[in-house]
Amino acid sequence: MRGREINEAVIRRGLTTLELLRAGASFRLSLRREWDEGVDFAGYARDFSVDQVPCADPIALGDEEARGVLAEAAPALGRLESLMRAGGHEMVVLRAHAGLGVRAWLHVHSSVLGRNNGYHAIRAGGIRRHEPGEREEAVLVDGLNLGRAMSFKNAAAEIPFGGCKMTVQSAPVALAPPDEPRLGFLAYCIDAGHFMTGPDMGFSPQLADVLRARFTRNILGGSRGALGPTGAPTALGCFLAIQEVARWKWGSADLGGRHAAVQGLGAVGLPLARHLVEAGMRLTVADTDPARIAAAQSELGAMEVVSPDRILSIPCDLLSPCAIGGVLDEASIDALRCEMIYGSANNQLRAFSEEEEKRLAERIAARGIVYQPDWTHNTAGVMAGFEEYAHPDDASLERILPRLERVCRDGTRSLLEEAARTGRTPTAIAYERVRERLRIP
Ligand code: NAI
Repeated sequence: MRGREINEAVIRRGLTTLELLRAGASFRLSLRREWDEGVDFAGYARDFSVDQVPCADPIALGDEEARGVLAEAAPALGRLESLMRAGGHEMVVLRAHAGLGVRAWLHVHSSVLGRNNGYHAIRAGGIRRHEPGEREEAVLVDGLNLGRAMSFKNAAAEIPFGGCKMTVQSAPVALAPPDEPRLGFLAYCIDAGHFMTGPDMGFSPQLADVLRARFTRNILGGSRGALGPTGAPTALGCFLAIQEVARWKWGSADLGGRHAAVQGLGAVGLPLARHLVEAGMRLTVADTDPARIAAAQSELGAMEVVSPDRILSIPCDLLSPCAIGGVLDEASIDALRCEMIYGSANNQLRAFSEEEEKRLAERIAARGIVYQPDWTHNTAGVMAGFEEYAHPDDASLERILPRLERVCRDGTRSLLEEAARTGRTPTAIAYERVRERLRIP
C-alpha cells in the first residue's frame, strides 16, 4: 500500500504541525494545531511573536493518538522513520500552511553542538525551496541528507550549532511586491525551529535581505549583509583546499596549465572558476542554465562547454561539482577520469548514511582519485553566516580568514597525510574526527 503523503494527511485533519522525535531506537510522534487558518502572517514579529500565534482551538495529540490519525500515511511515516534511523537524525518537524500552499520541513540531525550556546538558534543550515508538485519522499530525502551533512559541516567549521536543514515546498515567493504572508510564515517556521539559516537553492540572497530586515534575525547570507552572499567565501575555502591537494599530490600548489571541469556556475561555481582561471587553469564547464555560461564566458574568457551529463566523465585534473548533490554514485564513479574531486556541492556522494558514504569513498580511492567529504572544505559559507550572526554590527571576513585557512587548507593537508599513513580514506578519517564531539557512538 502506497498510502498518502504525510503532509496531505496532516492538512486533511485540520492540523498544522507534526513533530517526529527519535530517542535511540524508538520514535515519539506528536501532531498539533498551532495557528488559525485565517491568521495574517504578514504581521509576524510585529503584531505577534513566535509563541503568540493566534489559535482559537489548539490541539496537541500524543504518540498513540497521532499515529491513529495518520493511519492513512503509515507507510510514508514508516519510511521516514527508517531514513532517520539510517542517518542518525534527531527530529523532523513539518509546519504546513494549507492556505498559503507552504509546507516547511525542518530536518534536524543533531543539536548537540548548539546546546546552551547562548543564542536563540541552536542549529544551523540552509533553507532550500522545492516545487509544490515534487514527491514528498524526494523532498524528505534531500532535507535529511543535507541536515546530516550540516552537523558535520558545523563541527568542521568550529561553530557552536547543531546540524539542520529546512526544505520548503512552495511556489516561488514574490519579493516585488513582497509576499508578506508567505515571508512571515517562513520567518515563523525558522524561529520556531531555533534555527539559523541562509539561502540555499531556490531562495535568493534578496529574499534573505527582506526576511532579515522585516521578519527574523535568524537568516543570514543576504546581498545586503555585512559580508554579502556566502558564495565568494565558500569558493575561497574550496580553492584553498584544491591548492593544498595540488601541493600534496603534485609537489606544488601551482595549478598553471592544469585542466578543471566545473559543474555549475552559480553563486559558488562562478567565483571558484574565477580563482581557477586566475591560477592559470584551463576550464571545461557545464550548467543547465545557458545564461550562467554566457556570464562566465564574458567575464572569464574562452572556456569549453559540455552538456551537464558529460561533465563528470571528461578527462581532467580537477572535477569540481558546484551544483546539485548526489552526483557520485557507483556508475558515475566508475566513469570518472579526473585526478581529484573538490567542489562546493553539498552531499556529492549519493548516500543516505555514513556507511554508504564510506563505501563510495573507498570506490573513489580505489580509482586513485583524491576525494574528501564536501563538508570538510565547503564550510566558509557557514563560517561567514555565523560571523554575521554573532557580530551583527562589525562582522568581518578578516576575522574568519585564519579559521578558514586552518579548516579548509590545513585540515585538507592533515586528512590526506593521515589517509596516506593509515591506508584509510579521508572520508573515514573525517567522520572519526568529529564523531566524538557530536557524541555519536
Ligand atoms: P546556485 O543555485 O547559485 O548555483 C547552482 C548552479 O548550478 C546554477 O547555475 C544552476 O543552473 C546549475 N545547475 C543546476 N543543476 C545542474 C546540473 N545538473 N548540471 C550543471 N549545472 C547545474 O547554487 P550555489 O549557491 O552556487 O550552490 C551550489 C552548490 O554548493 C549547492 O549544492 C549548494 O548546496 C552548495 N553550497 C553552497 C554554499 C553557498 O554559500 N552558496 C555553501 C556551501 C555549499
